[in-house]
Amino acid sequence: MRILILGSGGREHTLTWKIAQSPACEALFVAPGNSGTGMIASNIDIEPTDFNAVIRIVKSEKIDMVVVGPEAPLVLGIHDAIKGIEELKDVAVIGPAKAAAELEGSKAFAKSFMNRHNIPTAAYATFNKSTVNKGVAFLETLHSPYVLKADGLAAGKGVLIIDDLTEAQNALRDMLENQTFGEASKTVVIEEFLSGIELSCFVLTDGNSYKILPMAKDYKRIGEGDTGLNTGGMGAISPVPFVNKEFYDKVESLIVKPTVEGLKKDQLPYVGVIFIGLIKVGDHPLVIEYNVRFGDPETEVVIPRIKSDLLDLFLALSRGTLEAYDLEIDERTAATVMLVSGGYPGDYKKDILISVDNKLDEIHLFHAGTKLKENNLVTSGGRVMALTAFGANHSEATKKIYGQIDSIQFEGKNYRKDIGFDL
Ligand code: AMP
Ligand code: GLY
Repeated sequence: MRILILGSGGREHTLTWKIAQSPACEALFVAPGNSGTGMIASNIDIEPTDFNAVIRIVKSEKIDMVVVGPEAPLVLGIHDAIKGIEELKDVAVIGPAKAAAELEGSKAFAKSFMNRHNIPTAAYATFNKSTVNKGVAFLETLHSPYVLKADGLAAGKGVLIIDDLTEAQNALRDMLENQTFGEASKTVVIEEFLSGIELSCFVLTDGNSYKILPMAKDYKRIGEGDTGLNTGGMGAISPVPFVNKEFYDKVESLIVKPTVEGLKKDQLPYVGVIFIGLIKVGDHPLVIEYNVRFGDPETEVVIPRIKSDLLDLFLALSRGTLEAYDLEIDERTAATVMLVSGGYPGDYKKDILISVDNKLDEIHLFHAGTKLKENNLVTSGGRVMALTAFGANHSEATKKIYGQIDSIQFEGKNYRKDIGFDL
């Protein structure tokens, strides 16, 4: 089979690494990819949202399967764009159609989906420019902190959590009247604040049945002890020790099943992964958000734990034979630690030379923001590389990583020294 993976982060390097191991993989392309994917596949310098370019490659390289990494092309309708072309209608696309990708593309859509199918989530109300005064009054009926969410995609920055009522009311006006987040904040969802511990649940579905992949916990804040600004993710652990059988069963029966069945009832065809951002409040799971793609850096711990052939698994998704698929999982714990550029998530320099000592022992090195420049490995983004290791538990796995983390050097290198601290 000839495969095209869209995207360029640590998630995509991990997917590339895993798919490259499949005997059925004859040719592997990544667009645009990074230096890590370039070592095991052919990078093609096009943007995943440039549909004409993607379709040109699918045709010219006779691609059999497109695996979509990031959300933007899915929300814009890459699935429909490829499948809508007669000669490409049999190409497998791993990632949902545009209508279903609204689960991530619109928070208001996701909330009404959850309400319609009785899926536990925070109470909410939706406002737009013409109802801004109602929104301001609604905030007065809630308790601090106030959660305001731009409806559309806002590169992970569209959620505001504000303690002060007046500040929250002003922020709401700004979002709706001045469109602080552009089109994304034409509609704003105001939510009840939930207090608990978050985790990520990945569900593969062929539209009929589903398989739950290992759960993971990611560390979003830049600083130790979960302090400072939000990032794309600084590390992750899988499995999550506080997920016992009872909690897992609740996630499956109250959230996963109704989600997959809800998609069916609403006639939203879905072939791909549903990333359910969960929060555990007391003993109860609630949904914080849906994403229609794999998480990053969760992928760097979840995919290495899958022993089964990932290409076979994706084929089962696209053929609708997932139910019979026997998924094999590594019982050990995987941890990943992200190395980031100095200054990230604020401003940071690019094109910084990276040196990698090749003696890394029992570590998977996944590239994120890296590229080759005049044959030198340099940084090209905020998140630079992820180091993944296995252990009997999370401390053993992270110990392996931290013991070798100086094998990778670049000026300004930063990372969290406490991944898994709260488990
Ligand atoms: P989202 O983009 O919806 O995942 O929100 C980003 C982050 O904001 C989440 O990962 C949570 O940490 C936080 N968050 C979102 N909604 C809520 C809520 N209702 N209560 C508490 N925290 C929330
Ligand atoms: N790690 C969270 C995300 O991928 O959105």
